Amino acid sequence: MKADELRQMYLDFYQSEGHTVISGGSLIPENDPTVLFTTAGMHPLVPYLLGEPHPSGTRLCNVQKCIRTGDIDSVGDLSHLTFFEMLGNWSLGDYFKEEAIAWSYKFLTSSSYLGFDPGCLSVTVFAGDENVPKDEESIAIWKKLGISESNIHALPMKDNWWGPAGKTGPCGPDTEMFIDTGRAPCGASCRPGCSCGKYFEIWNDVFMQYNKLEDGTYVSLQQHNVDTGMGVERTIAMLQGKSSVYETELFSPVIEAISDTAGRKMNEDEDTAIAFRVVADHLRSSVFILGDPRGVSPGNLGQGYVLRRLIRRSVRYARKLELESGVLCKLATAVIDGYKHVYPELGERREWITSELGQEEERFEKTLSRGMAELNKVLEKLQEHGQTVFPGRVAFRLYDTCGFPIEFTEEICAENGMNVDRAGFDKAFEKHKEVSKQSAAKAFKGGLADHSEMTTRLHTATHLLHKALQETLGSHATQKGSNITAERLRFDFSHPEKVTREQLDQVEKMVNDAIRADYPISFESMTLEDAREQGAMALFGGKYGEMVKVYSIGDFSKEVCGGPHVARTGELGHFRIKKEEASSAGVRRIRAILE
Ligand code: ALA
Repeated sequence: MKADELRQMYLDFYQSEGHTVISGGSLIPENDPTVLFTTAGMHPLVPYLLGEPHPSGTRLCNVQKCIRTGDIDSVGDLSHLTFFEMLGNWSLGDYFKEEAIAWSYKFLTSSSYLGFDPGCLSVTVFAGDENVPKDEESIAIWKKLGISESNIHALPMKDNWWGPAGKTGPCGPDTEMFIDTGRAPCGASCRPGCSCGKYFEIWNDVFMQYNKLEDGTYVSLQQHNVDTGMGVERTIAMLQGKSSVYETELFSPVIEAISDTAGRKMNEDEDTAIAFRVVADHLRSSVFILGDPRGVSPGNLGQGYVLRRLIRRSVRYARKLELESGVLCKLATAVIDGYKHVYPELGERREWITSELGQEEERFEKTLSRGMAELNKVLEKLQEHGQTVFPGRVAFRLYDTCGFPIEFTEEICAENGMNVDRAGFDKAFEKHKEVSKQSAAKAFKGGLADHSEMTTRLHTATHLLHKALQETLGSHATQKGSNITAERLRFDFSHPEKVTREQLDQVEKMVNDAIRADYPISFESMTLEDAREQGAMALFGGKYGEMVKVYSIGDFSKEVCGGPHVARTGELGHFRIKKEEASSAGVRRIRAILE
């Protein structure tokens, strides 16, 4: 089975069980300050998991692009990826453990679907702790379905609890499904979750019953949700009997392109295989980040820095394979062509993707030669004096003035038997962040993750601002990103030049007039096409016929949005723009407050 068939089969299966297929969100979340990237299918759904009604109902399923860079150092093995596709089904206060597990089992083992041998299936469940009891219910359901007791493993929170990627949010115990590859166990303690390669995790059903608060405590959610995630790459690797995700059709075009260009085979030796995998993985992630409708450029903070790191790491490993300068653009073509039938945005943004990759590769080469010279000078001196610790502030200077990534300083120091004072680096970096007062653009489709009163008010103010900008500057001034904290809103929009003081005054006045008019706010659910037809501002391409929520503020503004909002604009107080500045080429940024 190929990935194309798997995606379709999954959606068809869940649709036949009463789920509505919704489109996946952007890789770059909006209004969720807890994460830089969408790390799981549940991310764009956080407002609905917290109780906001979803316009498509209480049973949903989709395919979501995800980025996780927490394990970046593990990439190069057989299964770790920084980008992956997640198949997900959700119950928003609808079904719970019984149905979720039974459907997972049926989809995995029925010959009409994936047809895995039930004997090869091992599962893990939450073992319980002082706060939450052992998940006996899931154990009983798995047993009833025919999974033998020896293939059910109860594990602690670090294995079987889905916590939010950020610190707060919906969470709960989970049950994970593994395929036993038939390899010999690595030892007596080998069990699902072991990294030796015997067990391949492919799916996770999370039972979201709790909300984790700022102070670290868990409170019961009003509604019991199910959040599941099946990894496309891992599942097809298992279905195709491959020992690694890199041997599937999702990677073969880029692996072949690397092989042809380098004149080498991936499996020549372990170091070569690792370099192939790192280049293929990092490049694929970079193409998806750049190709996202909210795509960011490489930079020094936030998402831009993660992208920079991915690109620069892939260049570094490409050089290990003796691939020459300019190679990324060529390899990116293989990734784009392999995926554009599923993710048309990649094809549409092809030129931008390849030009950004090319420029970053060039910048990195300059940086590398300058940084290496500088680093070697310092290393020599330190070694002359018998030092084994590389000072954090020097590592920061290399990063700050030469753009030399800290990870490279660490790797090169390690090769020379030295350690970098990471705490010292982090301290210098924090100080720099404060001084430069920049912050990562965190921009998603769903709605507001934090439902506090102040962020809700600022969210409504953001809609008024968006409309006022379009009225004042023109319809090109569309939203490019939004980030709301309890203190302020930040709004990025397309506009080619500085907004004049007079224009800002006009925008401010228009927003304050709308506040004074005390417009009521309401929403209606409709298809995306109807929303567009009614003139609602809508940022994203979505699936044809997909249901969305359209929020109206009197007859002042109409916008597709997940909510929530205040009931009337009169609750907002006085709106004031604090700052207008450039965000990136062709994008301006406004910070504003409510007083
Ligand atoms: N949110 C769960 C995961 O990503 C399903 O594993």
